[in-house]
This record gives sequence, C-alpha cells and structure tokens, in this order.
Amino acid sequence: MTRSAMNQVRPLHDLHPSPSDMLAEVIDGLSSHPRTLPCKYFYDARGSALFDQICELEEYYPTRTELSILKQHAAEISQTIGPSALVIEPGSGNSRKVRLLLDALESPAGYVPLDISGEHLVEAADKLARDYTDLPIWPVCADFNQSIAVPKEASDAGQRLLFFPGSTIGNFGEQDRQALLERFAQLCRPGGGQLLIGIDLIKDTKRLEQAYDDKRGVTAAFNRNLLTHINRALDANFAVDQFTHRALFNRDHARIEMHLVSEIDQTVDIRGQHFAFKAGETIQTENSYKFSVESFAENASHAGWQFERSWSDPENLFSLMLFSVERPQNS
Ligand code: AVI
Repeated sequence: MTRSAMNQVRPLHDLHPSPSDMLAEVIDGLSSHPRTLPCKYFYDARGSALFDQICELEEYYPTRTELSILKQHAAEISQTIGPSALVIEPGSGNSRKVRLLLDALESPAGYVPLDISGEHLVEAADKLARDYTDLPIWPVCADFNQSIAVPKEASDAGQRLLFFPGSTIGNFGEQDRQALLERFAQLCRPGGGQLLIGIDLIKDTKRLEQAYDDKRGVTAAFNRNLLTHINRALDANFAVDQFTHRALFNRDHARIEMHLVSEIDQTVDIRGQHFAFKAGETIQTENSYKFSVESFAENASHAGWQFERSWSDPENLFSLMLFSVERPQNS
C-alpha cells in the first residue's frame, strides 16, 4: 500500500486519566466484610493474556456467541442503526470486535476508540487504519469511569453510536451500572444517539458456573493472578497457592460471583497492614451480572435509554441490545 493510500489516525486525544489509588482500594476491600478486591486489577499483562485465553475456551460461550450474533444479524443490525454512524467504543482494547460492526454498517462516519491504555490504543488504532483506509479514527485516552468525551473534530461527524460489547456492563454493580448508562446517555444526548450493548442472559446454573470454572483451570489462574499482581505492585505477600478459585451463580442477585478461598489460617501483609484469614474465608473478586432482555431494558430505561431491538442466538445465551436516546426537544 502506498503511503498516500494509508489512513491517517487522528492525533491521540489525551484526557489524562488519573491513576487510581491501588493501595487504598486494596486495603479498603480487604478490610470490608465480606472481603473484596476490585476486579479491574485482574488486567495486568498476564491477566489480559489469560483473559484472551478465557475468550477462546469451550466453556466460555459469551465471546463466540456475541460474535456469531453480530455476524448472523449484521444486515438487520446495520439497517436498524442506519447510515453514517459515528461509532464510539468505551474500553476498546484491541478493537477486534468492532470490525464486524464496521463491516456491517452503511458508510460509518468515523470511529472513536476510547481506552485507558494510551499505548495499546494507538497501536490498535494504527492496525485498524491499515484495513479501513477511508475511516476517520479519533483515539481518545480516557477512563470511561471518570469521563468520556468525543474530540471536537469528531463531534459533528455523524449520529453517535456507542458500542459496548462483551457483557462488560455485567461487571458493574447496580449503582455503578446505572451511573455508567447515564454517562453514556449524556454523551449521546446533544444530537441524539444509540447504544449497542452486549449482555449475558440468565440461564441454567451448570452452564454458567462451568463458564467461570473451566476444566483447564484458565479462569482459576486468572483469578489467582490478581493476588500475584497485588504482590508485585504493592509488595504484598499473598501465598497465592494457598487460595483456591471458586465460582458460583447467586440466583437471588442474578450474578456469577468469583471468590478466592483461603485454604489455611494465614496472615497477609501489605505495606505494614496485616490481614488475618481463617481457613475457608473468602475474598470476593468479581461479580458478573446476568440479565433477561426485559430486566436490562428496564435498567437502561432508568438512565434515559429507549429500547429499540435485540438479537440473540438460537440457544438464548447472549443478547445484543439496541437502545436510543433522543435529542432534547428544545435544543
Ligand atoms: C470482562 N468480563 C465481561 C468477563 C465476565 O464474563 O464477566 C470477565 C471474566 N471473568 C471470568 N471470566 C471472564
């Protein structure tokens, strides 16, 4: 490809996400009852690699099911969304899934990948630009939990379409989920816009628990790596092998809970603070909420989103849901 035929990714729009205070969050979580740890700390380099492996596991159906829904219903999804959408993807990571959406859409106006890791973001944007030579790409380095903004130059490019796949929304508790959906609506409100979001559906307990406790032990390694990450980042001394992975579906709360169970009585030291664990005591490391199409539509409506349509797979494992928010009447 000649240089002139190459897409030029627009300069990185850096919103300088403030680094979170890992020590304070870890101490806080371990001091609470029941003990918890923030799931965002799963994703150091090894954790991210393990998560990529999880997505390929036979037991972990969400990734391939969502992709198959996107492929199967591409034409209908595209028609319902309409032409010239400006695709904004919070937490865009490697920007792999969005390719299927971009391929399906009619003349997308541009793509705004938004991620906390500036380095990966630019790399992923460059890679995408090589294959989508006519697509304007405006990468934004931001933590979508703190702030989301679209660069001025991209603002008028087209109707905003937020793309939030992967059932990432399931890792947010009720209040944070609501706040995030409201922030998303806020971002689309000036000219009206849409949200295409992936949600994992409630199903039988066995299927759910196997997806989070695979035979090869990849999810167990992913869960325990959280402790390795904390040991390295905060000079802590978790005896990682003395904690066991446990995943269970809590039907009352419609969520998979991942725990690390202390095998023995032990004490963990982190920067001068001591945490005594009894054998059998657990640390809750992740919630992964599951929904029905109706329950999620209800959730989203409280944040101002109007349900448009949903697409599912034949087994009803996963759903892609489309919502819209209108431009305020007098603007
Ligand atoms: C990133 N997130 C949507 C995954 C999930 O299914 O909740 C994280 C995960 N945890 C264990 N396996 C996958």
